[in-house]
Amino acid sequence: MKIFAYGIRKDEEPSLKKWEQANPSVEVGFTEYTLTADSARLAEGSDGVVTLQTSPYTREALEVLKSLGIHYISIRNVGVDNFEFKDLNDLGFTLTNVPVYSPNAIAEHTVLLMGRLLRRVPEFDDKFDHGDFTWAPTIGKEYREQTVGVIGTGHIGRVVIKILQGFGCKVVAYDVYHNDDIEQQGLYVDSLEELYKQADIVTLHVPLFDSNKYMINDKAISQMKDGVYIINCARGELIDTDALIKGLDSGKVAGAGLDVLDDENSVFGKVWSSPDNIPNEKIRNLAHRLNVIITPHSAFYTETAIHNMITTSFDSNKALIEGLKPNNIVDTTK
Ligand code: NAD
Ligand code: COI
Repeated sequence: MKIFAYGIRKDEEPSLKKWEQANPSVEVGFTEYTLTADSARLAEGSDGVVTLQTSPYTREALEVLKSLGIHYISIRNVGVDNFEFKDLNDLGFTLTNVPVYSPNAIAEHTVLLMGRLLRRVPEFDDKFDHGDFTWAPTIGKEYREQTVGVIGTGHIGRVVIKILQGFGCKVVAYDVYHNDDIEQQGLYVDSLEELYKQADIVTLHVPLFDSNKYMINDKAISQMKDGVYIINCARGELIDTDALIKGLDSGKVAGAGLDVLDDENSVFGKVWSSPDNIPNEKIRNLAHRLNVIITPHSAFYTETAIHNMITTSFDSNKALIEGLKPNNIVDTTK
């Protein structure tokens, strides 16, 4: 049996080596390149592929894999929004993801972004860079005074809630599906409008679908409290960047913590030396603001997460090749 992996980084190699040692019957090949129509040919002779990328999986790339007799794809991450399910179904692929590699990684990053905004850390850093060691005017806010609106109470949203409760925050939550624990605590509100009305901080933890693209738009922001903070560690396309910029310009939005951005692939993963050189005008605009914190889709990036992403994705791919049905097969019929 042979598995070929795409987009393998140096930091993944130790976990990959461990997996190979534990699975001597499997031959593993890999490349640093992501899966494209060109790189797909590298998987020739393999029974399945393991991948990780934020750029779209094109039909052309999938067609090449199919022509090589490959039907099994295991991604090393959670989100499946960069696949067209129709392409997978037309071409007869089975897809697995890693639904729970470490919700804590993303949840901790989320709460850290909130804290850095509340205590105005970028502004203090900027003052420090200018030799200014004074207090005013960078007075902060405390977590325990905040009502946080958590949109999406799945694996990540629920850990966010737990951490925030430890800091003494009041939490209100919204989800199309009600989790028993969150329900019992009485945290759900009935509508996004109600959540926007109550929340000092709005944080997003839902998958991206066609139906919720740009859910944070002019209308949503207008329904939020004056001086709201917006945090996005889910998917960039959930926020209409123009609406966010307008909100920041007017002061309606006091700040934003953004691990993901619309069109992030044009900017993230590269070195620009200075925010002035960022080629996407809207991201450049955001990057120049001291009340906006941007991280390069790195909320997931911890040692624990990387190890689990490698282990689960390779286990799943091997299981598919062996004709088994791992419980993390993605339902591509929806
Ligand atoms: P999950 O599937 O466990 O939870 C998602 C929740 O969203 C579910 O409870 C679901 O019912 C709810 N939901 C779906 N559509 C909704 C809608 N329109 N309105 C309200 N609720 C809705 O997923 P998760 O593991 O918590 O991850 C959430 C998202 O975080 C992923 O889909 C992914 O896009 C993103 N993510 C980002 C990173 C990162 O590094 N920044 C890492 C992992 C995941
Ligand atoms: C996910 O797991 O969905 C992420 O967003 C992490 C990223 C490496 C793709």
